[in-house]
Amino acid sequence: MKLNQVQNYDEMSRQAASILISQVRQNPSSTLGLATGGTPLGIYACMVADHRENATSYAQVSTVNLDEYVGLKESDSQSYHFYMQRNLFSHIDIPRDATHIPNGMSPDLLAECRRYDDLLNSLNGVDIQLLGIGANGHIGFNEPGTSFQARTHIVELTETTRAANGRYFPSLQDVPHKAITMGIASIMESRHILLLASGTNKAEAVYALFCDEVSEQNPSSILKKHANVTVIADEAALILAKQKGCVEHPRKTS
Ligand code: F6R
Repeated sequence: MKLNQVQNYDEMSRQAASILISQVRQNPSSTLGLATGGTPLGIYACMVADHRENATSYAQVSTVNLDEYVGLKESDSQSYHFYMQRNLFSHIDIPRDATHIPNGMSPDLLAECRRYDDLLNSLNGVDIQLLGIGANGHIGFNEPGTSFQARTHIVELTETTRAANGRYFPSLQDVPHKAITMGIASIMESRHILLLASGTNKAEAVYALFCDEVSEQNPSSILKKHANVTVIADEAALILAKQKGCVEHPRKTS
């Protein structure tokens, strides 16, 4: 894994956005794998600003999102459909039918998982997959213990994840217990993976990512087996990994 050490959230966001924007400029019909949550908000803001200022076009881009809560309508302000519209899609020129997010409202969730896998197979591969990281090491909503062979599936969210995501909901009770997520096997098929981590609440997870063995108990650890992963992490997220001496790379600027 290549590590880009940055000072803070803003630098992380600018750097990641610039990688995504370069990808789209070099290949206007790229497929981007997108994430939600707090981590990518700054990236999406940079992409929207760049679209306004430099007219980077997404007219031929396709996107696939990692996950969605089960039981939230697209119109629910906590759904990831709503999040993507609000923070990115409604501000750029991407056609609505080129954006893909699992449907957590499907009456047949197993069929929806198969549909999403078929869709992923039909897209000729994801060029860059954006990932945040859960405090427990999850990627997508692949919680600790998930098989590395998993494809799109329904997950029972851990209480740590529900508590972490509770900050976006009126109360913890409102946080769904289930989600539908792209599996680790599909994430690993992306040509380039960009994992972002910012803040001390990610320090344990980043420590485990760099310092621990590959294990299904730590979903992110599988990324060590991928040939093209860039981690962009800030000082706060790297604090433990640095203290333990498993991050040795000098600071990179780009
Ligand atoms: C979101 C996702 C999750 C988040 C992770 C970190 O689509 O797949 O894995 O990336 O939970 O969330 P934040 O960025 O809110 O800390």
